[in-house]
Amino acid sequence: MTPEQILHTFLDHHHRRGHRDAPESTLVPPPGDPVLFTTSGMHPLTPYLEGRPHPGGRRLVNVQRCLRTTDLDEVGDRTHLTVFDMLGSWSLGDYGIAESLRWGHELLVDGFGLDPGRLHATVFGGDDQVGPDETAWRTWTELGVPVEETGDDNWWSNGPTGPCGPDSEIFVWTGDGPPTGTPGTDDRWTEVWNHVQMRHHRHPDGRLTTLPQPNIDTGMGLERLEMVLRGDRSVYEGAGLRPWVDAVGDRWPLDEVSLRVVCDHLRSAVVVLGDGVRPSATGRGYVLRRLVRRALTVLWRDDPSRTLTDLPPGLSGDTLRRFRQRGDIAALRDVLADEERRFRGLVGRGRPIVARLRSRGPLGDADYRWLHDTHGLPRDLVDGLLGGAG
Ligand code: SER
Repeated sequence: MTPEQILHTFLDHHHRRGHRDAPESTLVPPPGDPVLFTTSGMHPLTPYLEGRPHPGGRRLVNVQRCLRTTDLDEVGDRTHLTVFDMLGSWSLGDYGIAESLRWGHELLVDGFGLDPGRLHATVFGGDDQVGPDETAWRTWTELGVPVEETGDDNWWSNGPTGPCGPDSEIFVWTGDGPPTGTPGTDDRWTEVWNHVQMRHHRHPDGRLTTLPQPNIDTGMGLERLEMVLRGDRSVYEGAGLRPWVDAVGDRWPLDEVSLRVVCDHLRSAVVVLGDGVRPSATGRGYVLRRLVRRALTVLWRDDPSRTLTDLPPGLSGDTLRRFRQRGDIAALRDVLADEERRFRGLVGRGRPIVARLRSRGPLGDADYRWLHDTHGLPRDLVDGLLGGAG
C-alpha cells in the first residue's frame, strides 16, 4: 500500500463510523502554547479533550504532521523519525476504549490485511493512583490478541501537566519466522498504534483529577505502518524516505545509521522550513539549526567538501507535497545554503581553537563548556568534526 492508500483507508474506516475531519495544524503551535512544536495529533485538540465542544462533533479523525525532539537520539534505528505523519482518531466523551480497540483491530485486520496472529497488545497494569485497565485487557482477550501488562510504558501524557491517561499499544511482529516473546522482551514487536484513555488531568503538584468527559485519543505513525504493511526492514524504505536515501546514498558513501540520520534530519528540516520556521540561536529556529548541523556534521566527517546544494531540488518539493505543505522551494534552498555557509565558517574558526586546547591534553568538561559558551561550538561538533575526541 502507498501512503496515500493507507491514509484513505484510515480516514474511510473512521468516516464510516461517524468521524468527521479535524483540521490539521502546522508544526508551529499558536502563540501562548508552551511547547515548541506540534508533537502529536492530540496536541491541537487539547481544549476539546478538556471539555470545550468541538465544531466537528464528538468523533474526529485526521492526519497531523508531528515533530518529536525526544526521539532525536533514537533516530538512526529502524523506526524513529523526527518529523512524521500521525494518523489520529478521537472520541470526545463519546465511545469508550472497548469500541476503539475493536474498531482498531478490525481496521488492521480487514482494512489493512494484517495477519491477526502477528498482533500483540500491551495495557496499563495500574499504579498507586489508577487501577489496572481491565476493560482493555478483556477486550483484547476476547479478540484473541495476546496482552502484556506494563506500568509507565502504558501511561500517556503530552508533558508533565495536562490531559493524560492509561493507554493500550498495538504491536505487530516484524521478525522472520513465527512470533516469539512479548513487546517487553523482544524488540521485533514493532509498536504501530496507541489508544489512550484521556480522562485525567495532571496538575503541577503531581495530583490527578478527572477530566469533565472521558475521551479516547489514538495515534498511529504513517511511515511506520507503511513499513509494517510492506514488510520493509525500516521506515527508510517507504515512499517518503526512499528518495532521500537514494539521493544522499548515491552521492555520498555512508554507513547505514549515518545515512538514516542525514536523511531524517534533512527531510525534517525541510518540513520545519515549510511551516515558516527559520534557523536561529533559540527556540524553534535552534531546533532547525541543530537538525541541519547534525546532518552536516555526519557528512563532513569523511569529506568536508560535501554540500547540500548537490542534492536534487525535487527532493524538497516531494517532501512538502507529502506533508500537505506549500512552499517556495528556491527560497528554502537559499536558506539551507546560507545555513551551510554559516556552519562552514564556524567549523573553520573552531578548528584552530580546538587544536590549541588539545595540544595541552584531553578536553575536560570545563573545556567543552568554554567552547560552547564562548565560541558556540557544541560538544558533538567538537568531538565529531574538530578533533576534540582524537
Ligand atoms: N497521543 C498518543 C500518542 O501520541 C495517541 O495519539 O501516541
